[in-house]
Amino acid sequence: MTLIRVDSFSISLDGFGAGPGQNLENPLGIGGRALHNWAFPTRTFQTMFGSEGGTTGPDDDFAARGFVNVGAWILGRNMFGPIRGEWTDSDWKGWWGASPPYHTPVFVLTHHSRDSIPMEGGTTFHFVTEGFSRALERARAAAQGKDVRIGGGVATIRQYLQARLIDRMHLAISPVILGTGERLLADIDLLALGYKCTEHVATTNATHVVLEREK
Ligand SMILES: NC(=O)c1ccc[n+]([C@@H]2O[C@H](COP(=O)([O-])OP(=O)(O)OC[C@H]3O[C@@H](n4cnc5c(N)ncnc54)[C@H](OP(=O)(O)O)[C@@H]3O)[C@@H](O)[C@H]2O)c1
Repeated sequence: MTLIRVDSFSISLDGFGAGPGQNLENPLGIGGRALHNWAFPTRTFQTMFGSEGGTTGPDDDFAARGFVNVGAWILGRNMFGPIRGEWTDSDWKGWWGASPPYHTPVFVLTHHSRDSIPMEGGTTFHFVTEGFSRALERARAAAQGKDVRIGGGVATIRQYLQARLIDRMHLAISPVILGTGERLLADIDLLALGYKCTEHVATTNATHVVLEREK
């Protein structure tokens, strides 16, 4: 059965999934990079970006789990890049270089149409302007029985959460205070949506929690 999953989504102690003022130098917004301090040193992330070594243990286990049995991804347009409005820079192909770490079809939610972009390593970015339900339909079909991972950012996850479409969500709560930015769970009643916490593991870098929705 295809699960609709969020994995390795980092939030601050005060609930922000991104800092304010995203730009080329600050993909996660100002101060937001610290949200991923638990993930960057892990073997999974180091390998992803072409380095050897990296830490093992619970942080790495969670990072690695996020890539198991994923057949398609969904991203919001702001996670894909800092360009807003019409696609004025057709050279922009995401933050991740020629071979992005997805290796599957990736459906990017946007109101501005753009041709699909095939990348090296099996990733193809498709731009979906028909809304989040249609993006999920397309991702499910592309995943061919594997899971669909909702990568983020904040606005994208919030839509799928509120529509009760996310089966499982791993959040890494980082010991970081951002003060301002994009709040993941503001005014979202997780209990009413049917979520309960099914797993929690604390490391020195983050507290990992897994939320699952009762059907
Ligand atoms: N903490 C983490 O683990 C983590 C993980 C991933 C990303 N992030 C960060 O999160 C931030 C981005 O989050 P965000 O909330 O600003 O934005 P986002 O969810 O990435 O993208 C939002 C944009 O996507 C388009 N969109 C969303 N839903 C749509 C729909 N139903 N139909 C059509 N278009 C739709 C809209 O763009 P247009 O209308 O402009 O086309 C909207 O402004 C970035 O800083 C990123 O680095 C954090």
